[in-house]
Amino acid sequence: MKDISREIRDEGIMRREEYARFEAPPREYYQQAIENVLTKIDGNLEIFQDKVPAPASYNLVYEAIDNIYWTASFWSGMLWLAYEITGDAKYRRVAEAQLQLHRRRLEERVNIDTHDLGFLYSLSGVTAFKLTGNEGAKDLAVKAAESLSGRYWERAGIIQAWGMMDEPEERGRMIIDCLLNLPLLYWASEVTGNTRYREMAYNHVCQNARYIVRQDASTFHTFFLDVETGRPIVGKTHQGFSDDSCWARGQAWGIYGFPLSYRYTEDWRLIEVAKRLSNYFINRLPEDQVPYWDLIFDSGVERDSSAAAIACCGLLELSRHLPLADSSKRIYENAALSILSSLTDGYTTKTVPHSNGVLLHGLQHKPKGLGVDECCIWGDYYYFEALVRVVKDWKPYW
Ligand code: GLY
Repeated sequence: MKDISREIRDEGIMRREEYARFEAPPREYYQQAIENVLTKIDGNLEIFQDKVPAPASYNLVYEAIDNIYWTASFWSGMLWLAYEITGDAKYRRVAEAQLQLHRRRLEERVNIDTHDLGFLYSLSGVTAFKLTGNEGAKDLAVKAAESLSGRYWERAGIIQAWGMMDEPEERGRMIIDCLLNLPLLYWASEVTGNTRYREMAYNHVCQNARYIVRQDASTFHTFFLDVETGRPIVGKTHQGFSDDSCWARGQAWGIYGFPLSYRYTEDWRLIEVAKRLSNYFINRLPEDQVPYWDLIFDSGVERDSSAAAIACCGLLELSRHLPLADSSKRIYENAALSILSSLTDGYTTKTVPHSNGVLLHGLQHKPKGLGVDECCIWGDYYYFEALVRVVKDWKPYW
């Protein structure tokens, strides 16, 4: 077992009583929320066939763009969720059309010098294979995993996030978001029998637990390691407020990412890490359960509803792995449902007919001023995934 050797503080759950008392709405409430998402998807079916939605909306409307960003497969993911929940072939048809875009991107190597191959090919190739047995989709996703494995630094035990491997500013940088890219490697190991992919993913998640997670259970967004010696260098933010603050979406990626690696490795320490990260996150939620964009703030700045949606999926995944005897199991589940209710009641576009997005008040990149207080396509995806998780025994696409 790879060494994590860290003491990470556990704050406990400050609103334990409040969450314990939370009463989940009836099934019809979630079904209505799903209907509302499907209505938006239906309105987008014509527009996004051979184009994909931009990462964030502009005045709450997504433009149709080429498949060039890390976000290109969240639309595919939404289509597959819609297909799974309704059985309607119209969603599958568009998801399969989108698969051709993802195939072309990998073949033509368009912006694939990135760890985001996991996001891109889990929700396209892997999901198409899991739901329909499409062997071509499986081969595509295995090729993407092979490409991703080329970003692994052996001595440091990490997957480099961005840029070319010899690019001085990016060399040896891992980022917390990458935890969602690891399932592609675990899955590729399972379907090919090549244990190297799994080893890389497992080493990477352990290095995250060791260096990206701070002792107080907050997280750095990014962390540099010396790729020759494996020596830790420094934690730096990219999308957060400061190097020593805690970017809300980064923490949410951690809440979801550690339990996903647990699912494949059964290393219980990853669940313990996820619990501590979750406690840190939910203890800093404002009254309406949707975080400010960096957890250093407790008022007066924009929210990031996408962080809430990701954390919601993560808390549901975490809770699912906890034994019935763990008194926090229900608390995490209720925290997730409470976040989901707040998003459903106060953060959707159902009252904004001109919008083709789903979730209001997302935030793409505050330091660069991108997608501030807009819909974000991954926020829409994770919100929909959370709703599907609540009404169905859903098998993750991750
Ligand atoms: N993974 C990139 C982001 O969360 O903005």
